Amino acid sequence: IDIAARAASIVNEMRGMEGPLLPILHSIQEEFGHVPQEVLPVIATGLNLSRADVHGVVSFYHDFRKVPAGRHVLKLCQAESCQAMGSDAVAAALKQKLGIGFHGTTKDGAVTLEPVYCLGLCACSPAAMLDGEVIGRLDEDSIEEIVQEVRI
Ligand code: FES
Repeated sequence: IDIAARAASIVNEMRGMEGPLLPILHSIQEEFGHVPQEVLPVIATGLNLSRADVHGVVSFYHDFRKVPAGRHVLKLCQAESCQAMGSDAVAAALKQKLGIGFHGTTKDGAVTLEPVYCLGLCACSPAAMLDGEVIGRLDEDSIEEIVQEVRI
């Protein structure tokens, strides 16, 4: 598909909204899995913004990926309740086992690691979400299971 053309039609559909930039970026990420570099000028022109403005917003919000995600996306909750139940140690263990940091993707493209701020699963802290499925009460065993699963 022609990324620029598809982006232009998304911009056209949504430009009438109030504060259209973030919803447009979300739609684009939904469509392409990330926000490709080549859509930035399309959005800038469509919304009458400078390219630097659009770039600034994409960089500011970590939700927007600049490069495609891995085959799996693992989100680790870093909000208060999970913090209190050891999410830092969980994150450190997973970063070490996968060899990446937050917002990183393993070299083989297997998994992208992202922080998330509350999955609504506080009663089962520390919590994570793997490919849209929530996992609660992370411990050494479930961490190991996750590492095995994302290798596939
Ligand atoms: Fe982690 Fe709510 S704080 S699920």
